Amino acid sequence: MPGSSRRRWRPARWPPIRDPELAGQTVVSELISFEIRALTRADAPAWRLLRLESLTNHPEAFASSHEEFSLLDVDAVAERIPPVGGDDVLFGVFADGVLGGCAGFARDTGLKLRHKGLMWGVYLRSALRGQGVGEALIDRVVEHARGRVEVLRCAVNPENIGARKLYLSRGFEVYGREPRALRTGGRDHDDELLALILPNG
Ligand SMILES: CC(C)(COP(=O)(O)OP(=O)(O)OC[C@H]1O[C@@H](n2cnc3c(N)ncnc32)[C@H](O)[C@@H]1OP(=O)(O)O)[C@@H](O)C(=O)NCCC(=O)NCCS
Repeated sequence: MPGSSRRRWRPARWPPIRDPELAGQTVVSELISFEIRALTRADAPAWRLLRLESLTNHPEAFASSHEEFSLLDVDAVAERIPPVGGDDVLFGVFADGVLGGCAGFARDTGLKLRHKGLMWGVYLRSALRGQGVGEALIDRVVEHARGRVEVLRCAVNPENIGARKLYLSRGFEVYGREPRALRTGGRDHDDELLALILPNG
């Protein structure tokens, strides 16, 4: 919260990641220890629950709906986790071995579009927020995107102060606004469109 005096750990320089898709990266701070690694299809049951939690608690933050996602069984959910080794990836945050957060990267397809990619599905369980985990997660996605794409896009509900602040703090810049991007709970929500330019992608 603004003016909060809570002690926070801020990620400094990350050690080089040898294999951005596979390498689990353990981060230890005075506040929390967690690992970020690419999810595999074996993580589908845990990600399904996490995703349903995010869609239940924050319907205005995601384009997917709980109603539709809950119809997918574990096999169908596993299909949505990109195979390890490709451009696309879904990172998970593990604290004490339990999946508590995620963020995905999807590269645009087609010769004219493949220099761009999308960050999607950013979520942290509330117990993990406010401790630098979000910064580390976004940085991991950005590090993965770097060298693959030159433009990393994401969208955020402008009323989502925390997520917006997090993205701007990692270098994203607002380039537009989609009016009435989401309709949920009897309300329309705009999307703010953000991009991070990654030279030499
Ligand atoms: C977005 C999310 C991952 C960020 O988690 P986080 O990195 O731990 O960040 P926080 O939630 O602590 O907030 C980030 C910043 O916004 C500030 N903030 C959060 N809510 C705020 C509010 N209502 N008003 C003002 N500032 C706020 C925090 O103080 C923090 O600022 P600081 O870095 O200067 O201390 C997490 O909040 C989340 O999962 N939210 C629900 C799902 C979601 O919105 N996903 C994004 C979809 S685009």
